[in-house]
Amino acid sequence: MRMYDIIKKKRDGYELSTDEINYFVDNYIKGSIPDYQISALLMAIYFNKMSERETLDLTRAIVNSGDTVDLSDIKGIKVDKHSTGGVGDTVTLILGPMIAACGVPFVKMSGRGLGHTGGTLDKLESIEGFKVELDREEFIRNVNKTNIAICSQTSNIAPADKKLYSLRDVTATVDNISLIASSIMSKKLAIGSDAIILDVKVGSGAFMKRLDDAINLSKEMVRIGTNYGRETVAIITNMDEPLGRAIGNALEVKEAIEVLKGGGPEDLRELCLYIGSILLKLAKRVKNQEEGIRLLEEVINKNLAFEKVVELVESQGGNVDQVKNPDLLPSSKHVIEVKSKMEGYVNSIDAERIGACALRLGAGRETMDSVIDLSVGIVLNKKVNDKVLEGETLAYIHSNDLDTANEVKRELYDIIRISSNQGKEKKLIYGMVTKDGVQLF
Ligand code: URA
Ligand code: CA
Repeated sequence: MRMYDIIKKKRDGYELSTDEINYFVDNYIKGSIPDYQISALLMAIYFNKMSERETLDLTRAIVNSGDTVDLSDIKGIKVDKHSTGGVGDTVTLILGPMIAACGVPFVKMSGRGLGHTGGTLDKLESIEGFKVELDREEFIRNVNKTNIAICSQTSNIAPADKKLYSLRDVTATVDNISLIASSIMSKKLAIGSDAIILDVKVGSGAFMKRLDDAINLSKEMVRIGTNYGRETVAIITNMDEPLGRAIGNALEVKEAIEVLKGGGPEDLRELCLYIGSILLKLAKRVKNQEEGIRLLEEVINKNLAFEKVVELVESQGGNVDQVKNPDLLPSSKHVIEVKSKMEGYVNSIDAERIGACALRLGAGRETMDSVIDLSVGIVLNKKVNDKVLEGETLAYIHSNDLDTANEVKRELYDIIRISSNQGKEKKLIYGMVTKDGVQLF
């Protein structure tokens, strides 16, 4: 087999065979095919797309490029949750303890943040001493004891994805549905959960800017999961504005604790309850979503969800005092208020640009080697469609550097758009995709 022929075949619009797909993935990982040939192939895939069969074969080849994690030592039905990436997306930190408090095991292998989206591991590391690196025995022991563990992915999960993704990133070939679906699903399928729930973000702060693209991506991922024998559900949710109010590591941990205690921002709470209810249904803990939501509200009201996050932090070596009193979490030197210059309604808050501001304050990584400032970020005091009076606070900037804070302040005046009329009602959850089809709300 020759790489030249594979590139040419795809360039001319033909389907690649299973053997051809295995050949280029295997040999790329081995280093026997150069980046420039894979780049050319990726561009041909970008233009000519892949069939459902090719996408499934590509996913399988990527899964097989590395290790798989066997979770069969964990009792019960294991459900994995994944978000395609958003700004201020604190869901995992809330969902985990809530689900575990309902008696369902929650095992999460998370990633770190890159660019304008944050990572769960970074957020958890705002808690002093919290250990994200657990070996297999340790996390299985923790889950069997407390029903929950959140740890980093071992380095050899889907190594072909790492290599392909880095190349896609610099060759303008990221945004192809088959390539995104196989990239995300390979990492999920390498971990032995029984069911998978995908939170597919759509909007200004997401990979998918348009609803129909998000639907197609969801369908593709559900099909791949189903083909692998995993019950897979995707929900499509709004990422036009940041989720909740806090964006930044320690700030989001604080926000998560508020929700676990029964407070917190309405949209974040609603999404956690919704995803949680699907998860409980997939785990066969409840018969339907309504029952799931009732159970989740119960574990919050009885303080069991909060007690569970305390247990999680304790078992992973973190400082429990910071969970019981979030004011002890890392905090910034300065907190600057951004006050509205006019009266009206918040019209839009571009999530991607807010994420970029948080990054500039030091809350995220420009490259994989950047060091994060856990204390900094932005807290929105107003959300889209809120009424604002002149002089009212729109947002708080948490910063350790006044010059950067002032630059971000100027930027926020442009990002938080205010108009005289209230916009149309916003939707948080657009729809759900299962193996039976698409349901839009
Ligand atoms: N997230 C991934 O892991 N891969 C993609 O290709 C896009 C988003
Ligand atoms: Ca948030």
